[in-house]
Amino acid sequence: MKRVAVFASGSGSNFESIVNATKGKEKGYEVVLLFSDQPTAYALERADQLGVSSYFISPKNYPDKMAYEADILGLLMRYRVDFIVLAGYMRLIGPMLLKRFDGDIINIHPSLLPEFPGLDAIGQALEAGAKITGVTIHYVDEGMDTGPIIAQEKVEIKPSDTYDSLQKKIQKIEHRLYPQTLDQLLRKGETIAKTSVN
Ligand code: GRF
Repeated sequence: MKRVAVFASGSGSNFESIVNATKGKEKGYEVVLLFSDQPTAYALERADQLGVSSYFISPKNYPDKMAYEADILGLLMRYRVDFIVLAGYMRLIGPMLLKRFDGDIINIHPSLLPEFPGLDAIGQALEAGAKITGVTIHYVDEGMDTGPIIAQEKVEIKPSDTYDSLQKKIQKIEHRLYPQTLDQLLRKGETIAKTSVN
């Protein structure tokens, strides 16, 4: 079973769904750590409630991303983490973590990438008058929401939709699709094959 760390900067509802999917079931993964770059992230409280170890490390205490990620890497090694799941983590992953976890970091984004990358994808879709948007799960590379796509699911935007109603529809899909995709990915051992070829 793969040992997963979830990185979250905010609410952590995806983190919770990923943990809950493993309760009482045999899954391809277990969540061993919640990491946050924000001291007030509600994800940290959820981790306490769910009985998952959690850590906050402030980027402000480091001269650069390399030094920051060196300490995060130390934490991940202590927990023998195999795989990183970004769930609302509002920071680009740098070369230090990308090199060590090559092909073993995934992210979820609330649009059909490559459409509406970056901040506030839901607001961008509404602003553009899009009729369809969705959810994308993808591998993480050095870019912003640019890595190879693993799974996507569409959501229809109705004229009556508000920001809140659309966000609810998107999150409902995320909470099902993220644990399911993660399980399939880690059960198949696709990531092992990928890293051993390189
Ligand atoms: C999700 O909508 C995800 O797609 C995006 O950030 C949001 C995180 O929500 N990357 P939560 O913190 O998991 O509730």
